[in-house]
Order: sequence, then structure tokens, then C-alpha cells
Amino acid sequence: MSLKKDILYSLLRSNDYISGEQLAKKFGKSRAAVWKAVKSLIHDGYDIDAVTNKGYKLTDNNDVVSAQSIKSYLKNDIDVICLDCVDSTNNECKRMLADGQYGVFLVTADEQTAGRGRQGKTFYSPIATGVYFSLVIRPHAALKNAVTATTAASVAVCKAIEQLTDKQPKIKWVNDVYVDNKKICGILTEAITNFEEGIVDSVIIGIGINISTHSFPDGVDNAGCLNADVDRNRLIAKTVDELLHIAGGDYKSFIDYYRSHSLVIGERIKFIQNSKVTPATAIEIDETGGLVVKLDDGTVTTLRSGEISIRKMEY
Ligand code: BTN
Repeated sequence: MSLKKDILYSLLRSNDYISGEQLAKKFGKSRAAVWKAVKSLIHDGYDIDAVTNKGYKLTDNNDVVSAQSIKSYLKNDIDVICLDCVDSTNNECKRMLADGQYGVFLVTADEQTAGRGRQGKTFYSPIATGVYFSLVIRPHAALKNAVTATTAASVAVCKAIEQLTDKQPKIKWVNDVYVDNKKICGILTEAITNFEEGIVDSVIIGIGINISTHSFPDGVDNAGCLNADVDRNRLIAKTVDELLHIAGGDYKSFIDYYRSHSLVIGERIKFIQNSKVTPATAIEIDETGGLVVKLDDGTVTTLRSGEISIRKMEY
């Protein structure tokens, strides 16, 4: 690791000042080299308080999303690419895959100019008030279909929020995360298929979480924000670690968690498929994340497609 990264990680993990001498000793470098690395971090946008006879400390203004910071929190060793501005992190992942990027990797952006949502909608992604990121995974037996990957992502987001804030997130089938009855997170999962072999090569799981976005464009329904003091790097890292943990096979506990956080079980809903609106009662979530509903004529059916949207009756 470079001295710059070593120093950043030390500062990130310390609540107090660390002297140049301590850092120099810890990393076997000169104090001048430490100061040069600190200056370079400040140049990168980190807000570092440098006080004579005390040393260096990251101020509370450091909500800079960076690969170094995300990696300092991540338990999994994966490639992390942080961009300032991009059309869509899902698009960027597709371009990177086409250019030969392989394996599991993460792309984040401070802002998206053409953030995409499900069913051809846009996802409003203004600068620095949310986190917008896409994780590319190799398809895994436990996440064998897009609905399962997408439900796993909503569980990962909720777990991260529960661990890092005092909020109580809920999931509206299939993958919208709600806090205080407002949608604060959307997830768009896309599969990249190898046409010659007819298999899914990679799955791109795109996640957008509104953290402090308070106003939304006209036509964005029921959107809100997390409204919590949370470090964006930690939130991204925790979500990714939770998601990779589920992808690693912890299937049973994930679906139990998904059920226990459902916003719709037992509720009167209407579902919309191909523009047709059908009233029903949501009964349960099945083993693969499908929503089992009872129609008003007594028929029981399971909704599976990501192309179905549902509303609670009162929405
Ligand atoms: C939805 O609510 O319909 C899904 C929204 C998904 C938004 C995320 S933000 C990161 C990634 N990049 C995109 O363009 N979309 C996803």
C-alpha cells in the first residue's frame, strides 16, 4: 500500500490527532514524506486539520467517497472504481465488462446524469446527496435469477442501514427500500449474457440510496431520503459486504429477513402488469422471493416478474 493510503486509513480510524512523528515511525518514512502525502490527500479533497505540535486529524466534513475509504471498510477484497460524474454506474459497468474487466468489482459515482430505474424510468441522482453504485458479481447458484439478486440487494441495503443508523427500513416488493413510508432506495439489476453459450456471465446490481436529497423532480412518486448522519463510504462498503455474504450462500436467513421486513405482507394491494390493474391481498413471499397474492375471486397466484409493480391500496 502507498504511504498516502496508509496515512488515510490511519486517520480514518482515529478520533484524535496523530502526529507526523507517529505516522513517520509507524510507516518507516520521514516526516517530510508524511507531510507530502498529507498535502496530496488535502489536494484530493480530504479535509485534514493540521495543527503544530498536535499533528493531523480528519475533520467531520469528510464525506468524500473514495476507493481508499470504501476499501478501508470493506471486508471483501474487490476492485473499487469511484467516479465523480457518469451517465449511469450500470452503464459504466457494462462498458468496463465489454472492455474486458473481469470478476467482482464496484463502480460508484457522486452524480449520475442519466441514472436508470426499473421499467425504463429514470433515477434522480443529484451530486453528493446520495450514493449511486453498481456491483458486478459472477452469477452464483444462490442468486440464480434476477429477482433473487435484486431481493438480496434490498436485504443488503436494509441491513447496512440498520447497522449504521437508527432507522427502520422496510422493503416494498420487489426491491424498493422504504424509510418512514418514503422510498429512499431503488435497485436495478441487469444480467449480461454470453449469447454463444447462452449463460449469464455477470450480474450488475445497481443501487441508489437518497441520503439527504429533499426535493425531487415532478413525477417522482413517494420519494424521500434516509435523513441520517451516515458516512457514505461505510454505507456503500457495508451494503456490498452484506450482498456478497448473501451471494456466498446464506440463502435461508436472507429470505427470512426479507419476509420480516416486508411492507406488503398481509396488506391489500393492487398490482399492475401490462397496464392492467388487479386488486389482491399479499399473502407471503415464497422461497425464491416471489410475492404470493390472493385475488378477489379467491385465486392464489405468485408474482415474479420485475415488470410488475405494486401499490398498497391507500397509495
Ligand atoms: C428504481 O428505483 O427503479 C431503480 C433505481 C436504480 C438506481 C441505481 S443508482 C446506481 C445504478 N445506476 C443506475 O443507472 N441505476 C442504478
